[in-house]
Amino acid sequence: MNIGLVGVGTVGSAVADILEKNKALIAARAGKEIRILKGVVKNIARKRELPFPVISNYKEITEDKEIDVVVELMGGVDAAYDVIKSALANKKAVITANKALLAYHRYDLQKLLNGAPFGFEASVAGGIPIIRALKEGLGANHIESIKGIINGTCNYMLTRMQAKRITFDQALKEAQGLGYAEADPSFDIGGFDAAHKLLILASLAYDIDAKPDDILIEGLGHLSDEDIEFAEEFGYTIKSLAIAKKVGSKVSLRVHPALVSKKSMIAKIDGVMNGISVVGDKVGETFYYGPGAGGEATASSVIADLIAIARGEQTPMLGFSSGGEGGITLAKKDDIESKYYLRVLVEDMAGVLARIAQVLANNNISIDTVLQRKKRVQKEWANLLLSTHIARETDINEAMREIATLGFVKSPPVMLRIDV
Ligand code: NAP
Ligand code: HSE
Repeated sequence: MNIGLVGVGTVGSAVADILEKNKALIAARAGKEIRILKGVVKNIARKRELPFPVISNYKEITEDKEIDVVVELMGGVDAAYDVIKSALANKKAVITANKALLAYHRYDLQKLLNGAPFGFEASVAGGIPIIRALKEGLGANHIESIKGIINGTCNYMLTRMQAKRITFDQALKEAQGLGYAEADPSFDIGGFDAAHKLLILASLAYDIDAKPDDILIEGLGHLSDEDIEFAEEFGYTIKSLAIAKKVGSKVSLRVHPALVSKKSMIAKIDGVMNGISVVGDKVGETFYYGPGAGGEATASSVIADLIAIARGEQTPMLGFSSGGEGGITLAKKDDIESKYYLRVLVEDMAGVLARIAQVLANNNISIDTVLQRKKRVQKEWANLLLSTHIARETDINEAMREIATLGFVKSPPVMLRIDV
């Protein structure tokens, strides 16, 4: 089986490397040899040690009659979409690791396939076979919830910031050096990459055709050392979570940092590792753990798709030929419910706590715990730390707006969700 690699960067070069190093094993499992005929790169002038020629025009791959499978590993949305459309128009099988593209065009692509095999195992959670688990292994179940860590860069950064107290910028630099981050790392730290992946999983589980703008996405940008320290002191670790939760015929989708109990399984997922809990109505909870980013881990999933195509295996792209779950719609962002951690920096004087409690009460928010910590330097200021019972997103947002306007509040109040 002949393939063309469109993109020979971190993942593409690892695909080439593994296909060469594990050639005999892969051929035995695929039932045929898998050969890369050529690759596409942007910078054609750069010297590369590759056992195949590189070119700059992708059409020399998508229109090449010798090529059976086009593997898109260049990233981006519009240009990658053009490559895949051209491949499908020329009746090629397609494999992609491009979650950004799928977040916008998965349903368009499903319509364009015309029976062509389409693999995207590598688009979510790097080396973990979560797409196959949802499409095939859990096919008998209604999916109750999906909750996990699905961005390796954020998890790596949070692990390093919490365990080693390195800065945000140092942690990001490390993640980039290890090949985990997207070409534009704001996709990782802004929560968008995890949101892209969550949307893909939500299509497999719920047939939800939502786009990134439709769902709650919050990145790591507002995390401070103080919140990391307080979380630690109260028995939590901070993780960036992606959550899909079905209640009745509605499913809420969200990505945000959260305080996670140190005793939970998800708190123990460190570094670049990803971990995903999927609860099915019949199987109960299942859990998937493994490397979520990096060249070899991601290439492992790309090659799994190549082997499946070589064997002639084919399941419908999103796991259903028509209809999927059917009837499930997206919950409004405002209706999402959670417990919340609030930190409000205030002047330490009479009536402050009562006033904040009043704002929360006026917005239907019930306080669970309260604690006050004096600032070390400005002794007349204090951090008020509150946790709430379950409340609605719309109510907490309004309360935060009102608290920010109170005269004794010294900086914008901080709100983080608490995982329950
Ligand atoms: P990368 O290291 O930046 O490699 C991108 C490759 O595509 C490079 O070879 C680049 O050429 C080529 N390219 C980019 N734009 C191009 C254009 N307009 N025309 C022709 N060639 C172009 O990216 P990567 O980390 O391998 O990621 C590739 C894809 O896999 C992305 O969709 C990413 O989201 C996804 N992914 C990555 C990981 C990971 O851990 N890295 C994990 C899962 C999924 P040059 O070599 O000349 O720059
Ligand atoms: N940038 C992504 C991450 C790559 O860090 O998880 C894997 O999809």
